Amino acid sequence: MNLTELNRVATAMVVSGKGILAADESSGTIKKRFDAIGVESTEGNRRDYREMLFRSKEAMSQYISGVILYDETIWQDAKDGTPLVKLIEQSGAIPGIKVDEGTQGLPMCPGETITVGLDKLAERLKKYYERGARFAKWRAVIDIGSGIPSMTAISVNAHALARYAALCQAAQIVPIVEPEVLMDGDHDIDRCYEVTSRVLNKTFQELRVQRVALEGMVLKPNMAISGKKCPKQASVEEVAEKTIRLLKACVPAAVPGIAFLSGGQSDEEATAHLNAMHKLGPLPWGLTFSYGRALQAAPQKAWSGRPENVTAGQNAFSHRARMNGLASKGEWQSSLEKKAA
Ligand code: 13P
Repeated sequence: MNLTELNRVATAMVVSGKGILAADESSGTIKKRFDAIGVESTEGNRRDYREMLFRSKEAMSQYISGVILYDETIWQDAKDGTPLVKLIEQSGAIPGIKVDEGTQGLPMCPGETITVGLDKLAERLKKYYERGARFAKWRAVIDIGSGIPSMTAISVNAHALARYAALCQAAQIVPIVEPEVLMDGDHDIDRCYEVTSRVLNKTFQELRVQRVALEGMVLKPNMAISGKKCPKQASVEEVAEKTIRLLKACVPAAVPGIAFLSGGQSDEEATAHLNAMHKLGPLPWGLTFSYGRALQAAPQKAWSGRPENVTAGQNAFSHRARMNGLASKGEWQSSLEKKAA
């Protein structure tokens, strides 16, 4: 393992002004997104859509530091035969790959899951590296509800995250460690804070036990935020203040960067929250976005599967990428959204 190189890549992934495009929807998830815009989820349509994003010159060269790909995409070529990975490299961004194989029910723990995909991971990582991937992602899912999460679910998911992270570093790939506490319930922000704190503490404990070099990883957490169905929604300032307090308490400064998931927040909420956090600096780590839905909802709608809408889709993507790029420096203002509308 070359830790200097892992640290260089991790630092580049969270460089100020840029963030990560999470374009790693599984075939099931992208089908749901395409259903919503009336597009059939064929291999060709998935390729055309992602090619549109990766060829968005302004977004990719100025605001996107890395792209998380799904297994199908990393092996696909653009219409002109150029591998999609090459398009990403040519734009100056770093290609990455989602390597978990989704979740399964956790035995003895009703309503909870464990993320799977460790078997043969070492061999898969080798092939992904050869294809150009320099970082990877593994997502653990923790739900909040009556009586959950259990310590069992937190513990086994943290263990799997650390196993994955160690395998990545041994393969010279930067692991994005993603323990996502879902925002689906009716819990308030303080409950989210408390659960996320337990999850992060356990995750870093496991990372240490399994000798993962914190300098060569990126953390992808949820924000401290109200559950979607909670009657009392915390303000932007409260989300920013509590998230920074939580991360400062749980994430060692040796970690080069933190890149948030959007998790079901609206596009503008996700941007406003990141921006507000940068008003609370200086911060001990890079702090940016690794958004899926909050970067892609607008371009998906603008594109809607029509070749004549490719430019509109790219403009919508570039706008969101620019807004989040500004937010990663604390320079975003809501008036910039209105001007573009
Ligand atoms: P969202 O930003 O849509 O939550 O997706 C990010 C991601 O990669 C989840 O694993």
